Amino acid sequence: MAKYSVFMTDSIFPDTAIERDELGLADAELTFSSAPDADTLIREGRDCDAMLVVYAKVDASVINSLTRCKVIVRAGIGFNNVDLEAATKAGIMVANVPDYCLDEVADHTMALALSMIRRTCLLNRKVSDGVWSIADAKPMPPLRGAVFGLFGCGAIGQQVGRRAAAFGMDVVGYDPYAPEATFRDNGIRRVTDFDDFLASVDVLSLHVPLTDDTHHVIDRENLEKMKPSAYVINTSRGGLINEQDLQEVLEEGRLAGAGIDVLETEPPADAPPLSRLANTVITPHAAFYSEASVVELRKKASREIIRTLQEGQPKFWVNRN
Ligand SMILES: NC(=O)c1ccc[n+]([C@@H]2O[C@H](COP(=O)([O-])OP(=O)(O)OC[C@H]3O[C@@H](n4cnc5c(N)ncnc54)[C@H](O)[C@@H]3O)[C@@H](O)[C@H]2O)c1
Repeated sequence: MAKYSVFMTDSIFPDTAIERDELGLADAELTFSSAPDADTLIREGRDCDAMLVVYAKVDASVINSLTRCKVIVRAGIGFNNVDLEAATKAGIMVANVPDYCLDEVADHTMALALSMIRRTCLLNRKVSDGVWSIADAKPMPPLRGAVFGLFGCGAIGQQVGRRAAAFGMDVVGYDPYAPEATFRDNGIRRVTDFDDFLASVDVLSLHVPLTDDTHHVIDRENLEKMKPSAYVINTSRGGLINEQDLQEVLEEGRLAGAGIDVLETEPPADAPPLSRLANTVITPHAAFYSEASVVELRKKASREIIRTLQEGQPKFWVNRN
């Protein structure tokens, strides 16, 4: 019998070979849940020493059923699918992998922003319909000098800012929690008033985590503070945006377009209504992805489990007091 048991709640990866290999080095055995719902997680995972989570919802009922789990590791950066309060109360450490895919997400953010501003997807659709004309390219303001707004100036926001600056855009940021050095060292012009920030940007790019404070922060009221010529780009979490409000504002022409990688419900049951609009580009939560980033993520998540089981605590402990 192995020394440790690790329970994996769900996966988007083709197999569990990387996790098994990494965990095997520490005599930890991986079992994989037969389904990601709470009842199954409770029935099959309750006696694990560590839990490895991708997108499954690990709520208080799951957490409170765990008999000896030391750590829950979210294989990813965002950890909004794990109930932190319940884990903290239960004395279970929660960790994430904050140091992978920063380039991929930043590149993807720019891909969405550029395909919005330069209208590449729209024009491509027209060309495939047999229309060879720039009539649908209008209006097309230059990138140089446009105000690129980072809502959240953490690891990804900073990388996006560097890329936007390389296109000659004027990079501004709103992040009340980031130290002054973040703005100074990354050439981001700090805006301290959220309403002024929204009113000033030509592109609003979301890089804040999804929390109670940021849930639906981009709603009709805030969208209406923006220029009608502005774009919203979201590679963070779907729950930041009230999608119904965004849809209406786009249909009313009160906003120029939206580039979206994340939806509130993933996967959506059907083609999302937003995807039917001409001025949206939507990708299926793909920003983190490259072949290399996924291998890095899976190894780092597994090593974080081993580190905790062997040394007593994770490197990236998100509910540490
Ligand atoms: N689409 C994808 O594939 C993908 C991949 C990785 C990460 N993400 C998302 O990207 C998000 C950002 O990642 P990161 O690495 O930059 O995280 P980070 O923790 O380094 O940065 C988040 C920043 O948001 C700021 N912030 C928090 N609450 C705020 C608020 N209410 N108002 C303004 N600023 C606030 C923080 O001060 C911090 O600087 C993650 O939370 C995750 O959900 C998405």
